[in-house]
Amino acid sequence: MLTSINMKLKSNLHFIELEKIINSIRGMNFESLIIIIDLNLHSQYFKKMDFDSLGKKVIIWKAPPGENCKNFKEFETCLEFLLEKGVHRNSHLLAIGGGALSDYAGFIASTLLRGISWSIIPTSLLSMIDASIGGKVAINSISGKNLIGSFHNPDNIYIDDKFIATLPVDEFQSGLGELAKYGILSKDIKKLILGGADICKIIQACAKFKQDITTKDLKESGERKILNLGHTIGHALEYIYQIKHGIAVFWGMIFIFIIFQKKRELDELIAIKRSLGIKETEPPWLNKTIPIADLMRFITKDKKTIKNNTLEVILPGMKNQVTIKEVSLMELETKIVNSEAEVKKFVIS
Ligand SMILES: NC(=O)c1ccc[n+]([C@@H]2O[C@H](COP(=O)([O-])OP(=O)(O)OC[C@H]3O[C@@H](n4cnc5c(N)ncnc54)[C@H](O)[C@@H]3O)[C@@H](O)[C@H]2O)c1
Repeated sequence: MLTSINMKLKSNLHFIELEKIINSIRGMNFESLIIIIDLNLHSQYFKKMDFDSLGKKVIIWKAPPGENCKNFKEFETCLEFLLEKGVHRNSHLLAIGGGALSDYAGFIASTLLRGISWSIIPTSLLSMIDASIGGKVAINSISGKNLIGSFHNPDNIYIDDKFIATLPVDEFQSGLGELAKYGILSKDIKKLILGGADICKIIQACAKFKQDITTKDLKESGERKILNLGHTIGHALEYIYQIKHGIAVFWGMIFIFIIFQKKRELDELIAIKRSLGIKETEPPWLNKTIPIADLMRFITKDKKTIKNNTLEVILPGMKNQVTIKEVSLMELETKIVNSEAEVKKFVIS
């Protein structure tokens, strides 16, 4: 397959302790190492990684925590800083942080000197199972999230679940919301979750699952789209109710399962929620009028709208197969209107 010079088709997934990552990095061939690290992670973890022992030039950039780095200003400031420090094309970039940091640092790696190699140490649950895998990198625009970006696969993803110990509770819950999606997409992961497997095992299974899919379909032209389960409505809920991404995906799946009458999957998702310890019981819309006009306005603007009036909805189908269904905006709106009463009173007891 023809691809750009810097496009790596498959990243190496390492399940490895933080203290041992340095040895893996030591074996890599680069002249200098650029570390872009979320400020919160810098204060808590940087000293645990002995980058001085590499004996190479190390350039460090501390980025504002979380989503605060994903904008033009931070992108430009960091690039100018690195160029001023004299980076070369055979520099390697290491991103340390959650999904926001890796989206931002990966976009820098993809544009700096027309693209340099990079690796990630994901530190949030959501980034371990999702954001660090598959090479999508981006910053936000005032017109919407993740609208300026590219595909740039990292060479290595180093996953150590110990980072979760310091993750704020709401961020952990958000990661669990996204994780629940994998329980619906994969029978094996569902079995692990419902069987009470250790979170470390579940993280590994989710990361491998996403890696397999994105390796086959890097640019989201086919199978990769199934990973958007719950996201069409979820993104709208995230925006309207200002809730965390993974929580919005969880309620987005519930919403879709109700309006498309997927009773079995709804029950499965609730069982998965209980096993994972997701605390959510009341949807953000409970006892409020469902903001159908706002939902539809947001969905119409979503980049997954494939034609003017048609979008792709990811739905579990026969024999546990997930399907990509083309639905017109009018059909979706009708389904929401018809199920409004049921959606409105839904709670998980
Ligand atoms: N590229 C992709 O495929 C993809 C997929 C899903 C989500 N994303 C992106 O990921 C972002 C969300 O990522 P996220 O949920 O990881 O949140 P995040 O990166 O915004 O981090 C959330 C907060 O947790 C802190 N944090 C992270 N790890 C920590 C740790 N171990 N200890 C203490 N604090 C820690 C951060 O400093 C931040 O304040 C969004 O910008 C979203 O667009 C990208």
